[in-house]
Amino acid sequence: MTTTYNPGVHRFANFVVAWTVLLFIAGALVTSNNAALSVPDWPKSFGTWFPSLRQLAGGAFFEHSHRVIAGGLGIFTLALAILIWLKDKRRWLRWFGVIAVAGVVVQALLGGEVVRQLLHYWLPVIHACFAQIVFAAVLSIAVFTSRWWVSEHAQLEDAGTASIHTLAILNAAVIFFQVVLGAGFRHQDIPVWPHIAGAFIVLAMVVWTAVVLRKRFGASREMSRARILLHAVFGTQFVLGFGAYWSRLTTADAPQPMPVMVALTVTHTVVGALLFALSVVVVLICYRLVPRRREVAAPAASQVAAR
Ligand code: HEM
Ligand code: HEM
Repeated sequence: MTTTYNPGVHRFANFVVAWTVLLFIAGALVTSNNAALSVPDWPKSFGTWFPSLRQLAGGAFFEHSHRVIAGGLGIFTLALAILIWLKDKRRWLRWFGVIAVAGVVVQALLGGEVVRQLLHYWLPVIHACFAQIVFAAVLSIAVFTSRWWVSEHAQLEDAGTASIHTLAILNAAVIFFQVVLGAGFRHQDIPVWPHIAGAFIVLAMVVWTAVVLRKRFGASREMSRARILLHAVFGTQFVLGFGAYWSRLTTADAPQPMPVMVALTVTHTVVGALLFALSVVVVLICYRLVPRRREVAAPAASQVAAR
């Protein structure tokens, strides 16, 4: 790879990742506090950009602070895209930075529609799920701008039947589908059982991916780390899921929002985003370290032709 490492760009990308986690916490707090409609208008709040503390009493504080932090993400992703455009030679990464900005704009428009359409038409579910894609995109930029990504690495050979690329993509897709089911239940569009059943499918998928990673690439430090992290985050999320459900059941008749329910449902939502983003990073690591079959086959075929 000829691209040089640019520490400033990478550090700023890491900051944007951290900001997006903060935004996830703020967004999930809106939902768990049932505060989505506590500010009636958008893009302004109560007809002004700077509502008074009196206007922000109760749930409106959560809704407005979520909007302000989202505005910050808009500015930061734009700054990141400009930085990449100026400092990075990779054309595809420049355009990826622009796409990330477009993603944040779409997400903000969706958020506005959630409010204007009074939570109808599955809009809160679409907003919740698209947020995960925005997060994964921002994290991918941090990976692409890292020193590790632009350094030379020994390429690993994939000898298995289903390629590790296919498996890793399937793993990320299954986790994303589970996120959709979680959001469907959280926003009261579907019952909980598909999400609980989905958790066991995710369990099987994560174990399959991890076993293949260990068997085929057990000697690789990066692959081993990815495998262990995938297990750890999944395990945490699984336990948190039961905690979130328990908190909904035990506080069903209590005056809401109960702090235990808010804490557990928000944490489960945020760790869900971390798990999906991690599964996307696993896909990226596989593409970075393991050449695809046709890439291996192509030079072999040209050698044959030359003989
Ligand atoms: C720009 C980036 C944005 C991101 C990444 C983002 C992310 C999120 C997330 C993760 C949630 C929690 C979903 C859940 O807990 O199920 C949420 C909820 C929410 N967001 Fe955003 N959001 C963004 C912008 C906005 C904007 C600009 C608005 C403007 C109104 C908005 C309005 C809402 C509302 C009303 C909810 C609560 C939905 C409900 O309770 O059903 N969001 N957002
Ligand atoms: C291990 C894989 C799992 C993943 C990736 C996952 C992911 C998620 C996500 C991302 C959400 C919030 C979606 C949103 O609105 O943004 C959610 C909601 C939820 N999940 Fe899971 N989940 C998993 C396992 C479980 C398990 C095992 C349970 C056990 C019952 C569970 C119970 C719940 C409940 C109750 C909610 C809604 C929280 C609320 O009431 O506000 N999850 N899940």
